[in-house]
Order: sequence, then C-alpha cells, then structure tokens
Amino acid sequence: MRIAACTVNHIVNPLGFCLGDPTFAWTVEEATGSRAQASRLVVSDGGQVVADTGWTDLDSLGCRLGLTLTPRTRYEWQVSVRSDAGEEATSDAQWFETGKLGEPWQARWLTCDSQEERHPVFFRDLPLSGEVAQARAYVCGLGLYELRVNGVPASEERLAPGTCAYDRWLQVGTYDITQQLQDGSLVEVALGNGWYKGRFGFDPGRGGWYGDNWELICELRVRYADGREEVFGTDVDWQVRRSNVTFSNLYDGERRDDTLSELPVVAATLLDERRAQEQTDKLEDRWSLPVMPQEEFDVTLVTTPAGECVFDCGQNLAGTFRLRVHEPRGTVVRVQMGEVLQEGNFYRDNLRSARAEYVYVSDGAEHVLEPRFTYFGYRYAKVEGLAQPDAADFVAVATYSAFPSDTGRVVTGHAGVNRLVENARWGMRSNFVDTATDCPQRDERMGWTGDAQVFSPAALLLGAPAAFFAKYLHDMAHEQDKFAGMVPLVVPAFMLGGTTGVWGDASCIIPWNVYRATGDVSVLERQIDHMAAWVDYVERVDGDDHGWGRTHQLGDWLALDNYLPGKEERKGGTDEGYIAYAFYLNSARIVAKAARVLGRTDMADHYDRLADRVLAWIRSEWFSPNGRCCVDTQTAQVVNLAFGLMDEARAAERLVELIRLNGDRLSTGFVGTAFLCDVLSEAGHSRVAYDLLLNEDFPGWLYAVNHGATTIWERWNSLDEQGRISGTGMNSLNHYAYGEVVEWIFAHAAGLRSDAPGYRSAVVAPEPSWRLRTLEMTLESAVGMWRVAWRCVDERRLRVEIVVPFGATAQVRLPFADEAAYQALGGRELSAGSYQVEYETTEPLRRVPCADWTLRELVASADTRSVIARHVRHVDMLPPETLDLALREALPLLSQGVPGTRELSEDAAERLDAELRALAE
Ligand code: BGC
Repeated sequence: MRIAACTVNHIVNPLGFCLGDPTFAWTVEEATGSRAQASRLVVSDGGQVVADTGWTDLDSLGCRLGLTLTPRTRYEWQVSVRSDAGEEATSDAQWFETGKLGEPWQARWLTCDSQEERHPVFFRDLPLSGEVAQARAYVCGLGLYELRVNGVPASEERLAPGTCAYDRWLQVGTYDITQQLQDGSLVEVALGNGWYKGRFGFDPGRGGWYGDNWELICELRVRYADGREEVFGTDVDWQVRRSNVTFSNLYDGERRDDTLSELPVVAATLLDERRAQEQTDKLEDRWSLPVMPQEEFDVTLVTTPAGECVFDCGQNLAGTFRLRVHEPRGTVVRVQMGEVLQEGNFYRDNLRSARAEYVYVSDGAEHVLEPRFTYFGYRYAKVEGLAQPDAADFVAVATYSAFPSDTGRVVTGHAGVNRLVENARWGMRSNFVDTATDCPQRDERMGWTGDAQVFSPAALLLGAPAAFFAKYLHDMAHEQDKFAGMVPLVVPAFMLGGTTGVWGDASCIIPWNVYRATGDVSVLERQIDHMAAWVDYVERVDGDDHGWGRTHQLGDWLALDNYLPGKEERKGGTDEGYIAYAFYLNSARIVAKAARVLGRTDMADHYDRLADRVLAWIRSEWFSPNGRCCVDTQTAQVVNLAFGLMDEARAAERLVELIRLNGDRLSTGFVGTAFLCDVLSEAGHSRVAYDLLLNEDFPGWLYAVNHGATTIWERWNSLDEQGRISGTGMNSLNHYAYGEVVEWIFAHAAGLRSDAPGYRSAVVAPEPSWRLRTLEMTLESAVGMWRVAWRCVDERRLRVEIVVPFGATAQVRLPFADEAAYQALGGRELSAGSYQVEYETTEPLRRVPCADWTLRELVASADTRSVIARHVRHVDMLPPETLDLALREALPLLSQGVPGTRELSEDAAERLDAELRALAE
C-alpha cells in the first residue's frame, strides 16, 4: 500500500499561494484492502507539531484542520492510512509554505521612466554578510516580471504575475532563491508589458488597460547560517538599467536588438505615496499556478512554394520557442507565427491584427533566443534572416499553467477518435494560460466565461485543473464585486462591462463542476455567495416583466441553424431568450444544490423556489399546454433534455428526428454541442451519438481531424473541404468549446459516470461499439485511479476490465450481458480492486443490417435509410402498419400500389438484403 497524489489546495507542495485554511488531499494505491479504516494527518512547523488528528476518519478528498497559518512559514505534513485489510502506509514528507499572508511590506514600490521603450531591469547587489542558509523573494512586478539572481532566472515561470483584475488585486509571487544566492548576490527584476500595460483587448489602439507605468515591489529575506535574518526590500538603493528588449506585448510579440549600446544606469524612482499605498492594499499572495514551459517539439523545415522558410512543429500549441542564431552583426532575424498553411504557403490572416512575431537584431555572436514577455498560438513559424535555416536550431515550447493535463486518458481502436481526444487536450493546454482563454493566437486570448464553462467538464476529465479554476473563480469574484454580482463576458474583464446568459452562468457552473470532480467542498464555500450574486443579478434584471429575455444574448454561439434574416450569423437559430432562461434555471438549481451541500437550508429553499418560478415562466412562455416545446431546434431539445424541461422520451424523439431531418448531421453551437451526445445516450440513443461522433463529414468532430486539426477548431468549418480557411473575421484553429464531447467518450463510450463527488462512487456502464473495436480509459480521479477497458473480441464476445480505486465503489452495468457475465465479473456492486470478464454477448456486437430487420430499425440510421430510399420513395411517409414488419415482409405491401412508393421488382428483397449487408460495420 502506498499513499500518492498528496496535494494542498490541489497543488503539490505549494509555495507562497493563498491557501486559507489549507485543504489536504491524497489517494491510496497498491492496497490489498478496499477502503480506509482510519487515517492520521500530522502538520508541523520546523519539527514542532502544530496539528495531529490522531487516528480517525479523515476525508481524503478534502481534509481541513482549521489551521491558522503564520506568514512565510514552511509547514511539513504527512498522512498515514490504515486499510480495512490491516495494512498501513505513510506518505512521503510533504510541505506547503505560506507567503506574506497580508503582513506589512518592508519594501517600497519602485518605478522608472516608462516612456523609454527599452525594457527596464531593476537591480541591486545585496550586501550579504554571511553564509546564506535560506532566502526567499516576494515579488510583484507590473506588467510582467522575471526575477533573476546572478543572471539565472529564479524559476522557470513565465509571464508572472499572470493576468487578473489588476484594478482589484495584485498577485505576489514567492521564490526560493537559496541556491542562487550561494554564487553571488546580484538580484535583477526585468519587466515587460503583458496584460497590464501592453496592447490587449478589443480596442486595437489601446495599450495599458490597467496602468501605463512599470512598477515593482520586491522583498528579499535572507536567513544566515548563524541564525541572523536580514531583509532587503526594494528602495532608493535599487538601480535601473535598460535591456535590449525594445518592444513587447502579448499580441504582437517581442523585439530584441543586441546592437544597441548600453544606456546609463539610473536610480530607481519611488512610486508616489498615494499610488504606492493603493497598490500595496491590493497585494495578495498568489492564486495563479505558474505558467511554465512544458512539452517541447522538434520541428521539420518546410520550404514553401512561395520560397518561405517555415518550421512546422506538428502541433498547434500555445507557447514560445528557442532558436539558436549565429548571424553577422546587424542581421535582422524575424520569426512569425501561424496556425495553418494555405496552398502550402505560410498564412496568418486569421490572427487578425496580432503581429505575433519575434524580431531580433544580431550582435554577431551566437545566442539561443527565447521570447520572455509574450507567447504565441502556433504550429508554423516562418523564419527570415537566417543564412542557413536548420530545423535542429529551433525547438517549439508549449507553455501553459502548471496543472496536471493528462490525468484522464482514452485510447480506442479508432485513430480519428484518439486524435480528437488529444486535440481537446491540446485545446485545453493551449487555452489554460493563467486564465481560461478562448484562443491563444489572434488579438483576443481573453478569459471568455462561456467557453470556459462549456469546456469545464472535459477539462476536469482530461486533467486536474481545480487549482487553475480556483484562480479563475477568485478573479471572477473580484469582478462580480465590482459589477454588483454581474459576471462579465471575460475574466479578467479588461474594463469590458456587459454579460449574457450561458457566459455569466460560468459563475455557478464551474464551481459546481469542480466540486463534482474533486469532492472538495471548499470551492463551494468560497464561491457560494458569488454564485448566488450572479443569480440575484439575473433576477434583478428580470424584474417583474421578464426583462432578462430582452437583454442582449449570445445564445447558441456559432450554431449552424440560423435561418432568420437579420439575425447575427454567429448566433444560431435557437431563441436566445429561451436559452438564457434555461441557464438561469440551471444556475438557480445549482445554487440551491450547493447551499444544501453546505447545510445552508434557507438559502437552498430560496433558490429552489426561484427555480420553480423560472421553470413555470419557461413552460408558460415556450411550451404548448400539452408540453410541446415551441423552440424547435436541435439545441432547444438538447437543453430540454439536459435541464429536464420536458418529457424525456418526447424531447429525445424530436431531437433524433431533427438530426435526421438535417441529413443526420448536428447543427448545434456552443450550447447544444456541449450536451448533445450525452443527452442522446441518456435517452437511449447511443447509436445516434456514435453516428454523430464518427461522422467524417462537415459538420462533425472528425471532419476537423481529417483536415489535419491538432486542436479543436472554433467553427465546424474553420477550413473548407479544400482545406481553405473559411473566413478571417473570427476563425481560430485552437478553441476548445467543441472538445467538450470528450466528456461523452469518458461517460458513455467508456461508461464511467461519477455519482458521488470526487468519483467516490460511480456507475460503470460501457457502451461498446464495433466501430471502435476497443477502448481503454484511465482516470486519475480525486479518489484514485479508475480504469475501464473493453474489447470486442469477436462479433459475439466482449471483454471488459474495470479497476475501482481504493475508497470507491462501482455499480456496474455490463452491455449485452446475462447474469453469468456479472457472476464471472464479481457482481454488480464492486468495491476497490481489479475485475475482468470475457463473455458471450446477448446481442451481436457487430451490426450487419439485412432484410430481416424491421423497417423501423432500418429507417432509424442514416446508412440503412439511404439504401431503403434508393428503392422506396418517401421513406418518411411509410405506412405505419409496415414499420414493425421485417423488410422482407413489408416489401410486398409497399409494392402493392402504396402511394408514394416505387414499383418494386420481384428480386427487390434480395437486392436490398445484399446492399444492406454491404453496410456491415
Ligand atoms: C470568442 C468566443 C466567445 C465569443 C463571444 C469570440 O470572439 O472567441 O469564443 O465566447 O466571442 O462573443
């Protein structure tokens, strides 16, 4: 038995984070027993025990001890677990270290001439007076900062302090610089523009939404081997030199000129007192996970038909690069980024106004270039100015927030589906860059709330972004405070007001999804008042005359079914008001559920009553007295099913029909697509869900895969059939919303569906498909590692393997299984352990359509229906009495002059039978 995945606030050994009352979590692996009998958590500070739970019942998903923490203190902790089989294990020693926790600063805010475009480096040589035993730096530099000690970056972190509502709060980073100070004492902080003061947001001419000046505060605390402590805060004894970086912002890139001569070093300027106090009041220990360089990609060198030199890293990603250069002095090397080639040539019109380039002027020496104060969304890098471009000199570096991004994995026997899952993962990696962005490449990259909430369930399956979302939600809460409960369209808001349903509902949906995935109630505790504030805001706007429905709504964004003249082409055909109320209802229900989890019964009752009133309004406004929904789109039916707005069978039947009427294709946008396959499966139409998933044509997920996508596209047809970009106005090749379908792959194709927070208990109900043939899913969930695998051994034999983690239970529903299969597996209710079974299925796994199938079955699927349609006109008008007959029996009836049918020849049954069998999977 072994203790694993130890985290505090969902972070491994957090340094300097805002932790509140820390939440401890862990899992148990390799145990003989199936659950914990008792656990013990001990927290100490420098060997002194500050908390010891003794052997008791502890919640491994989120255990809090009511600790009161001291600033700048490293606490060690260890957890021990005894299993029900008598084993015992103790975790490796873990730690967390507090930041300044709001204590006063012994440092002053500095600034410098901010008109000078060469970026400043604030520095000081520390007058150290002994052997350094421990050293920490507490820093906030605006817009971006990079702390270096003796020329070496204090950490691999990029783009610190990240983005946030800088008008409300500023994040302090804590760095352990003990090691770096052994070799010298030069401390430097280089500043860039970033989100704070660089060009960003929708106003192209505007830079500096939050400020125009470079500003820095830094407190260095050194403990000597002899026990003395010294503090070196930024003050007038710091100086400023200018680096060779002459330009930087997030959209346009960075420029460095190594031919420039040194500018005189000047003394740093103190920020005026009022401003300094304002800034100090906003300082908080960090919430942002560090943005870190992660995967690296070697590239291939492509010479395009236009003669350009382009490096292809094979993966669309967010990040930077390293480029080795050795060119004569004065040579200008230019690297420009793009996502796709067009007719083989470099292309990037879809980046809109973002210049996305790195420009370097050589001093004649050899250097490895790496942008520091920008990032790009790219797969292709066009390079100019190199005498002999060499792929070996360029490395693409994916850079994003440091959360585990591969804790959920699915591999099937279908290469396209596997690529789709990885595309969704890369969509997540590329867009979880400190805030949850819409895209990483064009002049946008903003924290769109709608996109984030739509994708959040998939994100919480593919990875473990609880701490990432904690920061996003903290920022959102700050914005809500500013806007009286309203959730802005983007977080941080960059001064953009305004909201809509679906987007603002992120405030309720994301914390609820995080809680469901992790089982940690602290996210609900932190957010509940802001979740409620959002719903209250909508209620206020709604007033007594249903005003919410008359506000501007984005609706089923980018759906394909917009048919009303004058409507914005981006909005889809589903009544936006209807969607807005459905989400309002959903949010009110979520607040009620969350309040119940927290034991706030009055609050729960209040929001339940509100939800009832909203539901009554929806029913009276959009439903016939008999219960038919008069918003008749795929997305409306999806919403009806997802939020239980009408009779399930009736909504599902209409949804399936609408898909069929659309040529067996989806037409949904951000809203409908998120739930489409799930609601189909939940209503018993998994076959239709599989048909949609595996459809290779436009519109469908595999269309993009087949056109070379390595992330998820913003639009179903971002590229047309010929691979041409379909438009440049709003067309990113790295948007994650449609990647939410991977939730269906986990929950239905693999069949793992949590039914208790943190996956403490789950339904395991795999839905195998001959078209995938095999599937293996592993999920390092909050409670531990789940595994579900199935394999169609042959047309009648299925092998299923299930691993239930320690501390969890599963209710299993084997597909096409009789009682013997359950017995061989070990039962329907499983506790922790490994189980497998191979059994004869009660129905064939391989679908071989034939003339013995009923007409109803044959017209239900696109492929078989089109065979029937070749012989029988008006397949939608078949006489009802023929539907439940086998095709063979129905044919004579159909050929006996039934109106609208063709004359069928004698051997029609055999020909049809052959054509149908040719469709066998
Ligand atoms: C973004 C979307 C976003 C939308 C809403 C777009 O520009 O890229 O993903 O949700 O705007 O207006």
